[in-house]
Amino acid sequence: MELWEALRRRTSVRSYSQEPVPSDVLERVLDSVLRAPSAGFTQGNEFLVISDPAEIAWFWATIDDPTNARTADDTALLAPVVVIPLAHKAAYLARYSAPDKQEFGLSDEEKWPVPFWYVDAGMASMCILLAAVDEGLGAWFFGFSEGEAAVLEHFGVPPQFRPAGAIALGYAAETDPLSVGSSARTRRRRTTDELTHRNGW
Ligand SMILES: Cc1cc2nc3c(=O)[nH]c(=O)nc-3n(C[C@H](O)[C@H](O)[C@H](O)COP(=O)(O)O)c2cc1C
Repeated sequence: MELWEALRRRTSVRSYSQEPVPSDVLERVLDSVLRAPSAGFTQGNEFLVISDPAEIAWFWATIDDPTNARTADDTALLAPVVVIPLAHKAAYLARYSAPDKQEFGLSDEEKWPVPFWYVDAGMASMCILLAAVDEGLGAWFFGFSEGEAAVLEHFGVPPQFRPAGAIALGYAAETDPLSVGSSARTRRRRTTDELTHRNGW
């Protein structure tokens, strides 16, 4: 698939058929993160991959909002796979303490103007989203609002890792009722001219 076709097709898919994602397809999507740029080539992100049917059911139940619980119909449309990109701040502080990076003075956290551990997680996440399109999958990046601590504990994630969000993956359902009311359907896409400031503001 051409890059522009993948870019045009990429959209957040929230409703999935329950067709399993073949392991070779998932592996290729995961391989895409190896091509992500990474500050100092730290490659500090690690990824929790949840694909076991019982574990994924537990995951979705755990991050559900108890004050507005999902219906059984909606639950049946949730993605069969979730990848959680984990940011690892300590890996970046260590990398930028190395002799070839000391000149940047970023060996302690307060000196970082931008937390590159999260920037790198975003870079890797975009690779996953585009690789998913290329593999014929739907994908959706979303933030945790419930259950983050329980998820990290349940899957044994070491405490130095923090999720940048989560990425749902699977084959898209024929329609996407879970995206009704989503921001992309209620807000206008901005234009390139609105977003760009050529040679000055
Ligand atoms: C950092 C980030 C956090 C997001 N969090 C959520 C979320 O919590 N819930 C949700 O439904 N979508 C979430 N989204 C998806 C956005 O709503 C979506 O990308 C945006 O509306 C544009 O739609 P599109 O991805 O279909 O182009 C998130 C996207 C990003 C990049």
